[in-house]
Amino acid sequence: MTPASNESVLVTGAAGFIGSHLVDALLYKRMNVIGIDNLSTGKREFLSSAKNDDKFRFYQVDLLTDDISSLLSDVDTVYHLAANPDVRSGAEDTKKHFDQNIVATYRLLESCRETGVKRFVFSSTSTVYGEANTIPTPEDYGPLMPISIYGASKLACEAMISAYSHQYNMQSVIFRFANVVGARSTHNVIHDFIHKLRENPRQLEILGTEPGTCKSYIHVSDTVEGILLGTEKSEGIIEIFNIGSHDWTFVKDIAEIVTSKMEIKGAEYIWTGGTNGGGGWVGDVRKMLLSTKKLEKLGWSPKLTSSEAIELAVMEILSE
Ligand SMILES: NC(=O)c1ccc[n+]([C@@H]2O[C@H](COP(=O)([O-])OP(=O)(O)OC[C@H]3O[C@@H](n4cnc5c(N)ncnc54)[C@H](O)[C@@H]3O)[C@@H](O)[C@H]2O)c1
Repeated sequence: MTPASNESVLVTGAAGFIGSHLVDALLYKRMNVIGIDNLSTGKREFLSSAKNDDKFRFYQVDLLTDDISSLLSDVDTVYHLAANPDVRSGAEDTKKHFDQNIVATYRLLESCRETGVKRFVFSSTSTVYGEANTIPTPEDYGPLMPISIYGASKLACEAMISAYSHQYNMQSVIFRFANVVGARSTHNVIHDFIHKLRENPRQLEILGTEPGTCKSYIHVSDTVEGILLGTEKSEGIIEIFNIGSHDWTFVKDIAEIVTSKMEIKGAEYIWTGGTNGGGGWVGDVRKMLLSTKKLEKLGWSPKLTSSEAIELAVMEILSE
């Protein structure tokens, strides 16, 4: 039986892919959960289980325009997941990442400071490392030189969170995720392939050059477990944890998994050529594998490999 909890938390981006899974897990621990989201990419239906729980309240608000201070008055921990997570779109629309990631995070930090929130948990990304020379890449790798506007905007958020934590007596935990996959995702390579193959099962356009980028993929269930454990066990003013699987997968292997699960035979792969000697698009990192030893020392480990996570995610998305 799960023990009763009096902890009150607020999740931004609660109706999003990872946010909605986190909300479900926090409610399972019987926390009082306030979810906020502007529903730009998030969906109310992702909260269909949470909305029946009397420990959950949802507010459709926008971090860029609404003042959420009144919602924070009794909150112990803020989990900040709201963002524009589309790495690729940053190349065309830099302001979107600046506003949705940097400005929104700054506004939220100010509200937390004013209301005395004690703990701030942030969803960062492997893209802050840029094209890292050390693989698997540990949390203390540097210098951090992101190659995408998205990665840069997340790194700027990390820097602000560090300063707020030191200056205003707030404890923070930053998680740098590998590529997260699973049910309710709306914007990753698996989703893209399934969508394209449903339109045309004979051909699949793939960004980059064969065999594509090589990256670590982590299932959302492993990700949420890591967030909960890392948050619970963190002690310093600010802690940073990578969350990823122990191996990586080429984009071509993802195409093979998706076509096989969709029972499509003989689809022709059309490689776009990509950029940067192997990246799918400008700003795309070619190789990414994170060292997760730091979180593993606290008792977490990924249950699925990259390809197992992808296989499960494909099945979940196909059955949605
Ligand atoms: N999915 C991944 O592979 C991955 C990898 C690394 C980091 N992350 C980070 O994890 C977090 C969650 O990502 P996700 O994949 O679940 O994305 P998502 O788009 O599903 O979730 C983001 C949510 O934030 C909401 N949102 C956006 N701007 C908002 C605003 N101004 N005010 C209120 N709500 C707003 C959206 O409606 C959406 O529900 C993001 O911060 C993302 O950068 C994701």
